[in-house]
Amino acid sequence: MPVAVIILAAGQGSRMKSDLPKVLHPVAHAPLLAHAMMAAHSVADRLVVVAGVGADLVTAAAREFDPDVQVVLQTEQNGTGHAVDQARAALADFDGDVIVLYGDTPFVRPETLHAMLDARAKGNAVIALGFQTANPGRYGRLRVDENGLQAIIEAKDASPEELKITLCNSGVICADREMLFDLIADIDNNNASGEIYLTDTVGLARARGLPCAAITCDESETQGVNSRADLARAEASFQARKRAEALDNGATLLAPDTVHFAHDTLIGRDVLIEQNVVFGPDVTVESNAIIRAFSHLEGCHVSQYATIGPYARLRPGAEIGDHARVGNFVEIKAAQIGEGAKVNHLSYVGNAEIGAAANIGAGTITCNYDGVFKHQTIIGARAFIGSNSALVAPVRIGDDAMTASGSVITGDVADTDLAIARAKQVNKPGLALRLMNKLRAAKAAKTKE
Ligand code: UD1
Ligand code: CA
Repeated sequence: MPVAVIILAAGQGSRMKSDLPKVLHPVAHAPLLAHAMMAAHSVADRLVVVAGVGADLVTAAAREFDPDVQVVLQTEQNGTGHAVDQARAALADFDGDVIVLYGDTPFVRPETLHAMLDARAKGNAVIALGFQTANPGRYGRLRVDENGLQAIIEAKDASPEELKITLCNSGVICADREMLFDLIADIDNNNASGEIYLTDTVGLARARGLPCAAITCDESETQGVNSRADLARAEASFQARKRAEALDNGATLLAPDTVHFAHDTLIGRDVLIEQNVVFGPDVTVESNAIIRAFSHLEGCHVSQYATIGPYARLRPGAEIGDHARVGNFVEIKAAQIGEGAKVNHLSYVGNAEIGAAANIGAGTITCNYDGVFKHQTIIGARAFIGSNSALVAPVRIGDDAMTASGSVITGDVADTDLAIARAKQVNKPGLALRLMNKLRAAKAAKTKE
């Protein structure tokens, strides 16, 4: 059965106290909305996002994540049922099951959505996703009897008896497309909030004699984000899952709680990650690489058996080859470091290609920026760059070439040549001692005065 997912993302999110629409706040470097879309993609053939507050930004973010997404507008936020109703036309040609997700509740697992679809396949008209909680608070309550799910009661509208129910509504529901919009047409706003409640579809279906069901999941899956504190909690639980996943896939994390992943970080088998490592978006680390303590990586690729850090910074476009080494206080940007090459100490390598087995001495700087344009530095295989070399790009150093330490290299160096570009050394015999004696005498005369 084809599946469409509708993601509700029109709400204000006023408790975030932010200029940014709530669903665009990031967890692990991806907007909440993108997390919800990832969950949706695990089951959906069609995806509709309902945007409202900050619709332009929300639409752009949704399209960036999935160019095929349909975005519909809800200009007034009249409730969750009204929000879903905005997708009626977009899904008019769709035959199949529809799941409604919230953009601010991003961590529903694919397995849970499949369990809901299974309950649909068994003939239930509306399936709601519930969870047991010690703090039911403002959540809607699921009233279940021997025939399954009877109704969802909003906390504001619940009796004291109903408020004691601890099985709460996550907000996720599933129904056949035609049935869903048919039921929504019957919802009124005769309730404490004066809103069109999506949750009323359950009671309406039961009134038609149609069976409904509740599927339950763990409370952590339905964790919603309404405030900055919720956002911090969502980040923490995402990180906990991602760390567990890395360990599960065969990586060693010396201090898992100090490693921070992005939503898309890929870590291979037998990778060792030391303490306090941060992964920004778009990082892949191949098997057997070592990421040492206090390193920061984003938009980069680390090949097998490479060693990064401690205290290294890999920026977008850094491609580190097999067995290469990037050491402490080294920054690499938009540069390929060849197989077995070494950049071990205090260097900046930007817009560069470093050949296999080249050795980049301590303090080497690629001067890649002239204030307007970026220029390329190319260093050949087995080249040896002396410590404290400034390589003024565009410049090319050949295979097996060397630069003398302290050189400012402004011209190309051919294969196997040695370039020396610094003032020649001059030694003055005995001058150091004579100079020192003169200074000491001056000091003695001064203290006598
Ligand atoms: C809703 C449920 C409640 C459930 C809770 C779980 C209803 C009536 N109530 O309550 O049973 O326990 O979620 O968090 O459905 N939205 C729109 N347009 C609107 C209204 C809401 O897009 O007009 C979006 C919001 O942006 C949000 C989601 O729908 O992502 C839920 O809306 P919210 O107002 O937070 O619903 P609750 O009152 O929390
Ligand atoms: Ca809410």
